[in-house]
Order: sequence, then C-alpha cells, then structure tokens
Amino acid sequence: MTDLQAIVEEIHASLSPRRGEGKVADYIPQLAHVDPQKFGMAVVTVDGETYLAGDAEEAFSIQSISKVFTLTLALGKHGEGIWKRVGREPSGSAFNSIVQLEQEAGIPRNPFINAGAIAITDLVLAGHTPKEAIGEVVRFLRYLADEEDIIVDQAVARSEQATGFRNFALANFMRSFGKLDHAAELVLGVYFHQCALAMSCRQLARAGLFLANSGTNPLTGHRVVSHLRARRINALMLTCGHYDGSGDFAYRVGLPGKSGVGGGILAVAPGKASVAVWSPGLNENGNSLLGSLALEMLAARTGWSVFGA
Ligand code: DON
Repeated sequence: MTDLQAIVEEIHASLSPRRGEGKVADYIPQLAHVDPQKFGMAVVTVDGETYLAGDAEEAFSIQSISKVFTLTLALGKHGEGIWKRVGREPSGSAFNSIVQLEQEAGIPRNPFINAGAIAITDLVLAGHTPKEAIGEVVRFLRYLADEEDIIVDQAVARSEQATGFRNFALANFMRSFGKLDHAAELVLGVYFHQCALAMSCRQLARAGLFLANSGTNPLTGHRVVSHLRARRINALMLTCGHYDGSGDFAYRVGLPGKSGVGGGILAVAPGKASVAVWSPGLNENGNSLLGSLALEMLAARTGWSVFGA
C-alpha cells in the first residue's frame, strides 16, 4: 500500500532547497511579481482522496493550462470539426512561434501552442460576446473543480492585454489566411482572460480529474466528456502539452501534462489521479523547472507512467 501523503511530502521536502531555480516569466509584466520561492503540489485520486504539500492552496495564474479546458469546451460545441482549424502534431518549436503558421497557411500545429489556442478560443467565442465567452470559461472551471471561488486575475489579464504584441501578431496572421472568424481584439480579449484564471494546485487537480477517470468527474459524478474524448485530450497533452519540451517530459515523467508560464503543470495519471504542481521558475522551454522534477519523482515513486511502472 503506497502512502501518497508521505510521498508527496517527501518530494516537496527534497526539492524545497532548490526553490527559486529557473526563471520567472516576465514578458507578462504582472507575472514577474510572483514570489519565486512558491512551491505547491496537489494529488487528487480517482477514488476521491486529496494529498497536498507546500503552497497547494494558493491561487496562481494558470496561463496555458487553461488551453486544456478551452479545447474541451470547443470539442463540446463543435465536435471533431475543430480539426479543420488546428492540427494534432507536436510543433517542435516555442509556444509563441510564428514560423510554421506561414508555411502551413494559418493552421496551427496543435491546440496548445499559442496560435492553436487562439484558434480554439475563436471557436469558443462563436455566437457569444467576449464577455459571455469569458463567463462560460469561468463557469466551466467552477463546474469541473466543483468550487465557486475561481476567478480571473484582472491585473494579469490587463497586463497581457497591454503587452501581448506577439499574440496580436499570431491572431492577425491567422485572420489574414481567413482562419479566424472574429477580430483579433475580440478573440484575444477572451484568450487573455482564460490565461489569467487564478487557481490553486488543489483546484486545478480537481478540475483535471475527469481526464484521469475516463471523462467523468468521480467527485461530482458529472460526465464531462466521453471516454474516447478524454483519451484523445490526454494524447494531445502527452505529445504537445510542453511545446518543444514535450518529448523530454514524456521521457522523464511519462504522463499527459500541460504547463503554463505561471509555473503550473497539470498532469494526468489515467485511472489513478490528477496532479497539479506549481513553482514559478521556468526551464529553457518555458515549463516549470521544479514542477517537472516533482512530477518525475512522483511518477517514479508511484509507477504511474503511462508507459508502465
Ligand atoms: O499567451 C501567452 O503567452 C500566455 N498567456 C500563455 C503562455 C504559456 O503559458 C506558455 N506555457 N508554458
């Protein structure tokens, strides 16, 4: 019988001396204010147990982790039709790269690089005002985590709105190919707010639990997506969730995962648990340095890798 609480605490304690390693994202000015010493871990198992360590209850900016949830929403609204607008292949380049977009005529490689996530948000926006779409995303996260106190950090959203020149470039570039239905300002208004969602590790692990349990949240009984869809979202997280660090993450951790520049990572151990870690210092690919190490140690200790124990 594995004692998960002891494992989570041991991993947290053994990595704690390394808090502060890596580089906190500062291209979104508001994110640069985050304390680099923060380090939290949360494991929520499919049988409903929660194991926490460190700053697991403190809300942080989920950033690109939100792309998993908007992908889920877009699939619910548009079904497999979304694949006309975005691919399902790893990009092998940085999360905010524009290079492939020109070569591939405005169709982003996958839904997790910025261009792909913007294309997905464009689909979520269909039939709504930006304000309504933001409300829908926030309500979806509250429904998934079964917690009402999930909010958008408006200071982070404003900060990115004021400095997200590269995202404006990506959106306008896609629009020039006729691959974006709404004006860049409208789509990015939603995109910046979804990225600015503030959640704790515990809330994030709860929100991702449906992916570990064949599409149904075992805490609430809500059937969020079908078994097949959960499997497919996990496949995309495994192959594309860490950008050009996805191969290394699969090699070291062996779990579907999605990172954010706020320093969070959501990882899914199918049939076992949903895990969220947070440490703001990032590695060279823009993924949490300590968070990746913590997940590597957790997978090794639990035998949860999808490639076998
Ligand atoms: O669009 C951006 O650049 C940010 N809002 C999100 C990027 C991100 O989290 C990349 N992940 N590691």
